[in-house]
Amino acid sequence: MESEKRMTMKRIPETDLNVSEYCLGTMYFGTKVGKSTSFRLLDIFAGMGGNFLDSANKYASWVPGFSGGESETVIGQWLKTRNRTDFIVTSKVGFPYGDIPRSLKAGIIISECEKSLERLGCDYIDIYFAHAQDRDTPAEESMEAFYRLVKAGKVRYIGASNHDIAGLSEADAAAEKYGYRRFIVLQQRYSILQPYMGADFGTQTVLTPEQYGYCRSKDITMMAYSPLLGGIYEHDTPEIPIQYDSLHNRKILTIIREYAKETAYGASQLVLSGISRYHGIIPVVAASSEVHLIESLTPADDCTVKEMMEKIGNTDRFGTKY
Ligand SMILES: NC(=O)c1ccc[n+]([C@@H]2O[C@H](COP(=O)([O-])OP(=O)(O)OC[C@H]3O[C@@H](n4cnc5c(N)ncnc54)[C@H](OP(=O)(O)O)[C@@H]3O)[C@@H](O)[C@H]2O)c1
Repeated sequence: MESEKRMTMKRIPETDLNVSEYCLGTMYFGTKVGKSTSFRLLDIFAGMGGNFLDSANKYASWVPGFSGGESETVIGQWLKTRNRTDFIVTSKVGFPYGDIPRSLKAGIIISECEKSLERLGCDYIDIYFAHAQDRDTPAEESMEAFYRLVKAGKVRYIGASNHDIAGLSEADAAAEKYGYRRFIVLQQRYSILQPYMGADFGTQTVLTPEQYGYCRSKDITMMAYSPLLGGIYEHDTPEIPIQYDSLHNRKILTIIREYAKETAYGASQLVLSGISRYHGIIPVVAASSEVHLIESLTPADDCTVKEMMEKIGNTDRFGTKY
């Protein structure tokens, strides 16, 4: 059934990468989501035309009883059942786990990449992300290390996550000065609801309108992680995270939920379509339930998405229409 609903593909500028409009979040594969369910979710994703997989070295070291690398291991095992070149595989380095410190020092980038390749059972990673900004390591050092991996054929392209504009600019300047590969993707926290200004997300960085403008001006592809805010767009999840709790957001939430009832779509599905098709940002979609995943990966039709986005008046903040 799922193979009939194929996602559209989009080209990442300055690359030969054609990625599905939704990326699959695999953070809990091999930990909270067991191997057989993970395989089933990956099969569903591939069956619906998905080819873009999001992972990281540390997924999911914080789950009791696990130490990190489990997500990459499951992806690696599943890829053995497939043709590797049909998929765009990502991983990340930079956050701490186990005895690895938070760092983008050259030695960490190189050694963590080797470990990720081993777990993924791959010769190369398509997009390798700097998972966190490292203000103590010169951008030149990190960018040179990433470039060394590119030259060795172990990494094809690089991306940034949880970076601010200053960090992105420094990395870009180093890449330009020395002829290294530059970041071609930025992955930040993002959803339709916007947190209040200055809201605390710990080590996570929210995509701001300024960053959105920066990426558009530099042709950097944007990805949205945690796009469903843990599932709060649905009626049966009443809690709104404190960073998003405002009268304005409650009003928007009600509009989305009411609009979902009027249409054939689910609220989460509408939100993901709005992020993808209206804001032009690739959502990193995660679900442990097959039903949720199939619904989430089925885009709403363009007219419905446009009408919903206009109803919530979202165009003034990220004013781009597809
Ligand atoms: N770069 C970074 O620093 C960073 C940080 C966090 C996450 N990420 C990436 O982003 C991915 C997603 O993050 P997240 O887990 O925080 O995602 P999220 O979008 O905030 O939430 C996922 C939740 O949404 C629910 N859901 C999915 N589809 C649904 C539907 N159609 N109806 C109702 N509920 C639905 C799922 O429920 P069920 O589980 O019940 O199906 C799951 O609990 C991760 O896997 C990871 O790859 C990256």
